[in-house]
Amino acid sequence: MQIITTKNALLEAVSTAKLQDKTIGFVPTMGALHDGHLTLVKRCVSENDLCFVSVFVNPTQFNDKNDLANYPRTVEADAALLESVGCKVMFVPNADEMYNADEMQKPFEFDFGGLDQVMEGRFRPGHFNGVVQVVSKLFKLVQPTRAYFGEKDFQQLAIIRRMVSVMKFPIEIVGCPIVREASGLALSSRNSLLTSEQRQRAVHISQVLKESQIFALETSVQELHDAVVAAINAREGLDVEYFEIVDGKTLQSIKKWEETDDVVGCITVYCGKIRLIDNIRYK
Ligand code: PAF
Repeated sequence: MQIITTKNALLEAVSTAKLQDKTIGFVPTMGALHDGHLTLVKRCVSENDLCFVSVFVNPTQFNDKNDLANYPRTVEADAALLESVGCKVMFVPNADEMYNADEMQKPFEFDFGGLDQVMEGRFRPGHFNGVVQVVSKLFKLVQPTRAYFGEKDFQQLAIIRRMVSVMKFPIEIVGCPIVREASGLALSSRNSLLTSEQRQRAVHISQVLKESQIFALETSVQELHDAVVAAINAREGLDVEYFEIVDGKTLQSIKKWEETDDVVGCITVYCGKIRLIDNIRYK
């Protein structure tokens, strides 16, 4: 596996691959890799001639400086994991390589068609501007045939699909199901910041979501919403930031189950100071 830190070296690796008519699959990450990422990388390896992975904790998508400072960074372990599953190129730039001073300061402009006004976008203003900024830059550099994203970041995936369509990138976006621990907890780099007690508490989030699937459609949307929020908040140390039952394409909240055939419940919960996200499909 080649470990590349500069855009020029990356462009060289890409042009060599293109000259050899090889397809490139791409997995953008912020590192602190876990089995969820590795599932994406393995799928990428199996569906493309070459798999490229970026590891870059993107400063422009953090609206909270502490969150950025505390984000786990494990580059050496990440490299070993990526090599073990067949990744061919790991791109690990620093912020100066990715951005000039102007780009770091001014919010990146993009027409989100309203997808950024809800959920994560409402609670993390500017977050998705940074995500689109970095992913569009990475796509221009790597020029992949396919790019892989986890469905845990449900809103991000919807926004990336819109970005590809608006910016006309000839890239297939492959959404991959959430990977969970045996306990049900959705895998996340942030889980490494949880104490063992918090980790046990956090399991309650996926349990409540799973149980809610049983009652969905039989109870009103509002009642289901309120029951999920109450059940999670009832557990000491968990605090729901939002739970939205939305149309999976427009991400707008629904009032009645009949409104659409594509319904997902998206949640963010603070477990102590750690912000965890998860989602569940109802339809
Ligand atoms: O999902 C993530 O890890 C990040 O938002 C991404 C897509 C790598 C962009 O920095």
